[in-house]
Amino acid sequence: MVRFRENIKKMSAYNPPLEGRASGGYLLLDFNEMTIEPSQKVKKALKEFVDSGRLQVYPEYGDLEAKIAKYTGVKPEQAMVTNGSDQGIDVICRALVKDRDKIIIPSPSFAMYYQSAEIQGAEILKPVYKKDLSFPLEEVLGLIKKGAKLLIIANPNNPTGTAISKKDVLKILKKAKVKNIAVLHDEAYFEFSKITAKDFIKDFDNLFITRTFSKTFGLVSTRPGYILSQEKNIKELMKIRGPYDVNMFAKKAISAALEDLDYMERYVKEVMEKSKPKLEKFFKENKVKFWPSKANFLLVRPENQERALEILKSEGILVRQRKEPDIEGTIRVSIGTLKDTARFIKAYSKVIR
Ligand SMILES: Cc1ncc(COP(=O)(O)O)c(C=O)c1O
Repeated sequence: MVRFRENIKKMSAYNPPLEGRASGGYLLLDFNEMTIEPSQKVKKALKEFVDSGRLQVYPEYGDLEAKIAKYTGVKPEQAMVTNGSDQGIDVICRALVKDRDKIIIPSPSFAMYYQSAEIQGAEILKPVYKKDLSFPLEEVLGLIKKGAKLLIIANPNNPTGTAISKKDVLKILKKAKVKNIAVLHDEAYFEFSKITAKDFIKDFDNLFITRTFSKTFGLVSTRPGYILSQEKNIKELMKIRGPYDVNMFAKKAISAALEDLDYMERYVKEVMEKSKPKLEKFFKENKVKFWPSKANFLLVRPENQERALEILKSEGILVRQRKEPDIEGTIRVSIGTLKDTARFIKAYSKVIR
């Protein structure tokens, strides 16, 4: 009999509700994706690649990491492209954590952290987000002591949307550095939130940043992510990522998207400066509870979760049901264009009627 490691046997697979969503013709407000197509430049680059006669050749990345570094404002040696930021998270866990090591994950948070930690057989410490869903700083600082290997923070956090101030991130980094603990600062929603720990890279060799082109650039189906960290760290992580883990579609899509930053910025502006205030106003006026968010989604508490999900679905809209202990009964609503928001508001009016 095959003997799987005990920690793998104890795990359950992460099965997000994916099936039927893309093909169902819904307005997809359930995975924090872009609700419109990516830049036409991306489509053109991908079509050219399909027609290039090179689909049968292993990927090569050329100056891709230099381009990402330029976009982010770090040195090329401080950037590493990954297969989604999911792979970035996993590579960092694999590099730093072994069986029974402690990982601190303020919770509730993004599912893949727990998966990568559990694969390593780590013991997960879960300081809980406060009642108002703000970051549990004191508790996290209290857990940063000898024995833990890694702290993972999503800033802003998914699914709560709440953020950690730069001042608090610095406090965490300083204490973690003294205690030899690495900090993974997940910036998946950076272009929406503008929150980054990038400027701390030069002073903190315990800092790892993961980011993605999945959300604001709309490239998620090509799985384009990256890590930023000091050069010596990137060198170690490169030993774990396979030489062609990132596929050529991701490479072509990233390069083309970086040539059309205007397109991304216009979308971010519409979402954050128009759609989001409109949606917040609607919820406030109708006394629907939601939490302040720095990302392209809101965590919302309907009076009756199942009923809200049912009505929205019957109106052709998918949002994400949350079941975690401290946010049970909530739904996470991604925010798209103004047109999407108007449609959502019309549908949600039937929920509160
Ligand atoms: C906080 C956070 N990190 C990482 C990811 C994964 O992004 P990617 O598509 O780059 O793997 C997500 C996706 O929802 C996320 O919410």
